[in-house]
Amino acid sequence: MISSSEIRQKYLAFFASKEHSIISSASLIPDNDPTVLFTTAGMHPLVPYLMGETHPAGVRLTNYQKCVRTGDIDEVGDRWHLTFFEMLGNWSLGDYFKKEAISWSFEFLTSKDWLGIPVDRLSVSVFAGDDDAPRDEESAEIWKNLGVHPEHIYYYPKSENWWGPAGTTGPCGPDSEMFYDVGIEKCSPECDPSCSCGKYVEIWNDVFMQYNKLADGTYEPLKQQNVDTGMGLERITAVLNGYDEVYKTDLFVPLMEKISSLATTPGDTSKEIIADHVRAATFMMCDGVSPSNLDQGYVLRRLIRRAIRHGRKLGIQGFFLQDLADIVIAQFTQYYPKFADLRSEIKLELVNEEEKFSKALVQGEKQFAKITANLKPGGVMPGEQAFHLFDTYGFPLEITKELAKEKGITIDEDGFNDFYKQHQDLSRAGAQKKFKGGLADASWETIRGHTATHLLQSALRQVLGTHVLQKGSNITPERLRFDFSHPEKMVPEQIKEVEDLVNEKIKEGIEVHYEIMSVEQAHKIGAIGLFDDKYAEKVKVYIMGDFSKEFCGGPHVNNTQEVGHFKIIKEEACSAGVRRIKAVVENI
Ligand code: ALA
Repeated sequence: MISSSEIRQKYLAFFASKEHSIISSASLIPDNDPTVLFTTAGMHPLVPYLMGETHPAGVRLTNYQKCVRTGDIDEVGDRWHLTFFEMLGNWSLGDYFKKEAISWSFEFLTSKDWLGIPVDRLSVSVFAGDDDAPRDEESAEIWKNLGVHPEHIYYYPKSENWWGPAGTTGPCGPDSEMFYDVGIEKCSPECDPSCSCGKYVEIWNDVFMQYNKLADGTYEPLKQQNVDTGMGLERITAVLNGYDEVYKTDLFVPLMEKISSLATTPGDTSKEIIADHVRAATFMMCDGVSPSNLDQGYVLRRLIRRAIRHGRKLGIQGFFLQDLADIVIAQFTQYYPKFADLRSEIKLELVNEEEKFSKALVQGEKQFAKITANLKPGGVMPGEQAFHLFDTYGFPLEITKELAKEKGITIDEDGFNDFYKQHQDLSRAGAQKKFKGGLADASWETIRGHTATHLLQSALRQVLGTHVLQKGSNITPERLRFDFSHPEKMVPEQIKEVEDLVNEKIKEGIEVHYEIMSVEQAHKIGAIGLFDDKYAEKVKVYIMGDFSKEFCGGPHVNNTQEVGHFKIIKEEACSAGVRRIKAVVENI
């Protein structure tokens, strides 16, 4: 038996022994990156540094990172797929490359001092090569020299052996993946690590990030050759203990036991779905997401509502999610200390959402039965009716799909999506804006918006008071959006004053530069910004004269004059006690 906490500690200790600095997990909500809703991998918060910015902790980093991937939402409940998981990772920012990365992966996996996996249990894959990048014989050779059997080395195309970018543009590259053979028979003579029968479980991925994917789909070499690796903590814990699914690991046992004790019927994969969704929801709320009908809030709402329905399927009545969230919080506060202050807030939000949805669920299920009364197995439910269930009863499509599946019918999903899109367009023009790029593509417009955002925060603090602090930021080449704490609507004079102050500072032509300093020093000089890193010894602070000092990864313009003219387009409420400003920077 090896516990997940032992694996976590060993991983960090191993890479610390190879001169890596341990950094904290970043938030699940990407900072300044509108291309994706959630942090999907450990590399995601590191994008600016993979592109060449200086990281305050150095060029070798390691951590455990909380991640959400909603692409797999339909697969949740199977043995290996999760919407929320933790990723162990190590990075080289233009420092070591393939040889060290692969040798250290091998040493950590196989050495008796570390995980001690027998070499013959391992298979690896490398990139087969195409027009964008050459065949990776170099990695194959390194694996061979380390002792991996040549027959256990597979060459796969981009669809299998290429990672990134996290959004639509940014750092990416060929990868080399490691698979654990669980020891069962091959499902067919062709069975290999790309097969999903369960014989080969992917446990680790070494990505050689040396390309930048551009908006037109082409690849250009990055300034530096990086390494980005990721190992799913839940999976490695399962395979090392001989379990055939992640839900048997100690990361899930307390939750699964509690769910089983509440359930009165066996319920297929409902327990697993609830366990996964409650973990994801609790972690999202810890990073400030509230259930809503937009963006991250809507993903959260879908997870909570699906969990409630599966609770009912198991015969669980009443509000049960808060007790499960308690278990998650108790288990993970030691690794994510922010939970300590948010326990009651998270539980309250869950109860509110359960209250809202419980009645709608009963009525919606009745409505579903009515709509489908005349449909025989094999029948199709029109998209408009699925949309009606969404719009009137708050049924996310997954729930309607699951109900339909239980009845042997399907849904006209294209029809649903048409109605849904119209609704989105009406309620918020331009939901697609999310896919237009951000700091990940580091376009000049975005960088200018980023510098303007720092000036805006300082101006707001000067005009409204130092209670103003950033609550969120989202920058596209077209505009910037800044959420900040402030209890009331700004009056037009205040908006004008803030706008004028920012433009004054732009005109002054202040030099923009960063300094790397100790956390203590940063606090001493009055640096502000999002900062909850329990490991950092050194931080990066961007400085614009006396006017702005902020914790930040960059990049920024070199002189405030390069920002252009700053204009506030809108000031509005965002959530309780939080206001939102939308602004643009224009060429002068
Ligand atoms: N970013 C790589 C992955 O998620 C390591 O697989």
